[in-house]
Amino acid sequence: MNIEQLFENNRNWIQSKLKSDDQYFEKLASGQQPKILYIGCSDSRVTAEEIIGLEPGEAFIHRNVANLVNNVDLNVMSVINYALDHLKVDHVVVCGHYNCGGVKAAMQSADLGILNPWLRNIRDVYRMHMDELNAISDEGKRYDRLVELNVEEQCFNVLKTAAVQRGVRERGVTVHGWVFDLRTGELIDQKIDFQTKLDKIREIFRLD
Ligand code: CO
Repeated sequence: MNIEQLFENNRNWIQSKLKSDDQYFEKLASGQQPKILYIGCSDSRVTAEEIIGLEPGEAFIHRNVANLVNNVDLNVMSVINYALDHLKVDHVVVCGHYNCGGVKAAMQSADLGILNPWLRNIRDVYRMHMDELNAISDEGKRYDRLVELNVEEQCFNVLKTAAVQRGVRERGVTVHGWVFDLRTGELIDQKIDFQTKLDKIREIFRLD
């Protein structure tokens, strides 16, 4: 890759933005009011804004390996807190994707060094849903299903935070679990029924 080209791309991008709105950067610099917090995978093929057609300023973004929301990860916890309490987003999305290398790695028996504790979060998702997953004989389908279940569990982790619980109570914040299918480009809303699923565990995790 020619790094110089990236700066050339940047200059072209500035010109294209100014062409459609000569105040574009003044507006951009005046502040952000995103309505959505998007938590996705770092995978280079799953670019957050591009796949959902959003412009700079419209989404607050956090990406890591396999879109995990770990309760001792100060990084994602700070992002959630800032997005909910200060930016006052109305929607929180966890977006996973099929063909996720992080999920794939967690399905294999291998010592991956520093990645072990990170991927253990996904192994725990597997453990929680072991009966369902082991009943799927086709390995590809089992892999796809673990991607979906991982998104669902990370959505629960989002809902376990005090900031999101406050947002839900005070202004009806909603949490969404999505999966991006690299094979077709389609974004799939998993339509997770949080209400029913949370009723069973609400007393354990409520913080108010
Ligand atoms: Co991934």
